[in-house]
Amino acid sequence: MKYRTFGRTGWSVSEIGYGMWGLAGWTGSDESAYESALERSVALGCTFYDTAWGYGAGKSEQVLGRLVAAHPGERLYVATKIPPKNFQWPSRRGSTLDDCFPPEHIREYTEKSLENLGLPAIDLMQFHVWEDAWAADERWQRAAEELTRQGLVRAWGVSVNRWEPWNVFETIRTGRIDAVQVIYNLFDQSPEDDLFPLCREHGIGVIARVPFDEGTLTGTLTKETRWPEGDWRNTYFVPENLAASVDRAEGLRPLIPAGMTMPELALRWILEEPTVSTIIPGMRSVRHVESNLAASDGRRLDPALLKQLRGHRWDRTPTKWSQ
Ligand SMILES: NC(=O)c1ccc[n+]([C@@H]2O[C@H](COP(=O)([O-])OP(=O)(O)OC[C@H]3O[C@@H](n4cnc5c(N)ncnc54)[C@H](OP(=O)(O)O)[C@@H]3O)[C@@H](O)[C@H]2O)c1
Repeated sequence: MKYRTFGRTGWSVSEIGYGMWGLAGWTGSDESAYESALERSVALGCTFYDTAWGYGAGKSEQVLGRLVAAHPGERLYVATKIPPKNFQWPSRRGSTLDDCFPPEHIREYTEKSLENLGLPAIDLMQFHVWEDAWAADERWQRAAEELTRQGLVRAWGVSVNRWEPWNVFETIRTGRIDAVQVIYNLFDQSPEDDLFPLCREHGIGVIARVPFDEGTLTGTLTKETRWPEGDWRNTYFVPENLAASVDRAEGLRPLIPAGMTMPELALRWILEEPTVSTIIPGMRSVRHVESNLAASDGRRLDPALLKQLRGHRWDRTPTKWSQ
């Protein structure tokens, strides 16, 4: 495992981290399988874990708390998120700070997360939705400052809404946040345009989330794929999105080097971007942990291949189903 500096926090974090949504929020999760997967990730050098109160109403946070408690000798970085007060993902233009993050809500959910995690402090607390229009509002700034002053939160971040990498620029410029979490993968390359240069300028830690486009870039989906009732992916992979996503993934297949898998290529492509501090694939099995963490071996992709992969950029804008 290789490590990168997490922006101006100076933390040294594993360049492959761990996304903890699926284990507490998607159908088909098996407790003993994901407990073993998490345990294996620590053994293989993973040190960055992304959870949220919203992942199973605190369940994922409790799982992470147990992992941290079981490894007192390891420095495992804990990133979690405050849900919007109206519990609507994502926020929309016109959503107000009062709808989503009034100061008392910021404190209430920080305290809930601390209790779920069983920790005295949270390394990175993120806002789970965001509107850049709130950047200058002193109420969230003061609430965050007070929690930091009390030693309950070490650093702050924004998890940027899907396909809106621009929706945090003014907030970065306030100097009040230390990190952004953004969708960045072989399809969603647009954070490179303006967000990453701004992050470099301000020393912002960058968490690349959804490296497999929720599954498309694992190469395992077909146009017939369906999930059990109640699984979030049925609402994301609506027929229009599933068909287009599968076609795009198939378009990549001829470019996969011999001996490599599509998920490995997807991770290696993100690792080529030095602005990214850590990538957080969602994983629930030892097999996925082992193959994903193995991508952090310092080997580079061929420049000619990288150039071809750039051509697979897919610019998308939020829709009714994109969430
Ligand atoms: N708004 C937000 O802040 C927000 C939104 C979305 C995600 N996130 C964060 O980002 C993390 C990652 O995103 P995600 O989990 O939604 O999607 P993702 O990482 O793009 O994809 C996860 C899917 O890929 C599968 N997978 C993982 N490794 C694989 C491998 N080597 N081979 C084949 N399949 C593999 C997983 O299967 P298994 O689960 O069965 O292992 C799961 O079905 C989340 O867990 C969460 O921490 C944050």
